[in-house]
Amino acid sequence: MKNSQSIFLVFGATGQTGQHFVSQALMDGHRVKALVRSPEKVAIQNPNLEVHQGSVSESGKVRDLVAGVDFVAAMIGDAKAQAEENINTTFVKQLVPAMRQHGVKRFLYQAGGFTKPYKASLPFTSRLLKNTLVRFSGLLGQHRDNEGVLEFLIEDAADIEWIVHRASILSNGPSKGILKRSKTKFSLATFKDCAVYNYRTITDESAIHSYDLSYYA
Ligand SMILES: NC(=O)c1ccc[n+]([C@@H]2O[C@H](COP(=O)([O-])OP(=O)(O)OC[C@H]3O[C@@H](n4cnc5c(N)ncnc54)[C@H](OP(=O)(O)O)[C@@H]3O)[C@@H](O)[C@H]2O)c1
Repeated sequence: MKNSQSIFLVFGATGQTGQHFVSQALMDGHRVKALVRSPEKVAIQNPNLEVHQGSVSESGKVRDLVAGVDFVAAMIGDAKAQAEENINTTFVKQLVPAMRQHGVKRFLYQAGGFTKPYKASLPFTSRLLKNTLVRFSGLLGQHRDNEGVLEFLIEDAADIEWIVHRASILSNGPSKGILKRSKTKFSLATFKDCAVYNYRTITDESAIHSYDLSYYA
């Protein structure tokens, strides 16, 4: 992390991962701008936190908020809406040109452990779970959408320093350890640990253009 104060633009600040990401950045003395649908859900109060009301589908708001930030992090999802359409892919397709326009380079996106790697298959057990557990939980659309984001970033956003975290989250609760990046290994982590991982990884140059899993080393 830079020693000086950075500005983070966070999408999903009211979510289970995003709220911990925001706390972490504020704790380190950084500034956070958050676009949230329901500002009353934001529990954190901090002079370095700027809350803006709106949806990621409001491209004008997204574009305006990108101006002047150092890092953009998206930990967003709406399984019901994503069952119908790829809202995150549409959002990222609007975010990237806004980042280019304002000269903002670094972007971290949290996808899931069941998100297929680009032009590859998931391992057998993950495929099996995806076709059963994930399907019956109504989360297939969310993973299809996350795969759309990954495909767009790889094919059309090589100039952006994007990082995709294919997170495997099981529970809320306290930290179970430090998550590390891996192409093959994953652990069922807590939201907090995933947020800390995202926060650390967003400044990790070696993670640029990766779409790795994470595991407790
Ligand atoms: N949950 C898991 O077990 C899990 C596991 C692995 C990976 N993931 C991935 O990680 C991502 C984040 O998951 P999470 O569980 O931390 O999130 P979450 O608790 O479900 O929260 C999602 C966040 O996205 C926001 N959001 C959704 N649609 C929005 C819109 N149109 N405009 C603005 N904000 C919007 C929500 O805002 P509101 O408060 O307004 O709803 C909320 O802050 C998911 O998309 C998923 O792909 C999740």
